[in-house]
Amino acid sequence: MKQVFIGKEKMPASQVVVGAMRLAGFNAGEMADFIHFALDNGVNYFDHADIYGGGRSEEVFGEALKADPSIKREDLFIQSKCAIRKGEVSYYDFSKEHILNSVDGILKRLGVDYLDALLLHRPDALCEPSEVAAAFDELEKAGKVRHFGVSNHNPGQIELLKKCVKQELAINQLQFSICVSNMIARGMEANMDTSGSVDHDGGILDYCRLKDITIQAWSPFQMSNWRGTFLGNGEYKELNGVLDKLAAKYGVSASAIAAAWIARHPAGIQIIAGTSKKEHLKDIIDGANITLTRPEWYEIYLSAGHILP
Ligand SMILES: NC(=O)c1ccc[n+]([C@@H]2O[C@H](COP(=O)([O-])OP(=O)(O)OC[C@H]3O[C@@H](n4cnc5c(N)ncnc54)[C@H](OP(=O)(O)O)[C@@H]3O)[C@@H](O)[C@H]2O)c1
Repeated sequence: MKQVFIGKEKMPASQVVVGAMRLAGFNAGEMADFIHFALDNGVNYFDHADIYGGGRSEEVFGEALKADPSIKREDLFIQSKCAIRKGEVSYYDFSKEHILNSVDGILKRLGVDYLDALLLHRPDALCEPSEVAAAFDELEKAGKVRHFGVSNHNPGQIELLKKCVKQELAINQLQFSICVSNMIARGMEANMDTSGSVDHDGGILDYCRLKDITIQAWSPFQMSNWRGTFLGNGEYKELNGVLDKLAAKYGVSASAIAAAWIARHPAGIQIIAGTSKKEHLKDIIDGANITLTRPEWYEIYLSAGHILP
């Protein structure tokens, strides 16, 4: 499994990550089996959030660790996210109190003493960087969190946090797939009068590369707006034709080629796989090990409807 190197510390991590958002329906045995499969294939990185399955994804992961002592905590890189509050009124919350309470809940559900990484799930409009800093200091001092990062943040929002937060913000988790790739298009269509040139993110891709912030691609096989996967979808006929052609060339599946497309970017982007199937996870792992040529990478990009000005 290809490694990426996270943050200024260059901490090695598997390029493919198991995303737990859709794993809440597993029982402890199934989860343990999935964790073993990931580890046996070189994937040691697991992405959670306190809201996945209303906390059930973390809970069943914890039950798996407890039931199967052959899975060693130190062999896993466990990441979780907080700050989305669901209820009668749903909102984002970067208050010190909420961050601290969330981490205690996460650790309890997972049945572990520390998180390898904590991310702030979505930017809170009422963010006060000093509160985030106070929470991070306390979590670091207590040994509850080892690394910090954000998710769905633009450069200005990260800089604002950094005004007070002294820990490195080493990770930014962002939606990214062949079909949802404005962070690529906006750069290549810069200053053009084209829809791809519209700036949705403040130049987050180049910013993260400049600042050694590892990007993690969420929903790597999805179309926009939760409409499902583009794999085999008639809406992306040309793209699927190209994926199938390259799959035949490399002797892998179309999803492997879609994973290879993300892995080929020199930013060293991690692929957060949301599958609950071992065979699909294996395809993605195989794909991350393929290095597409430049023409192949561009052919895939263009076949999804993007343009070169
Ligand atoms: N930070 C954020 O705001 C945020 C938001 C959303 C998600 N995330 C993270 O990103 C992870 C991945 O998100 P996602 O689940 O939307 O991503 P995804 O990997 O693009 O999608 C997975 C879904 O696609 C299906 N699928 C169909 N054919 C597939 C194939 N050939 N290979 C692989 N999957 C196939 C899977 O079904 P099968 O199970 O049948 O394979 C599963 O339902 C989540 O688990 C979570 O950790 C973060």
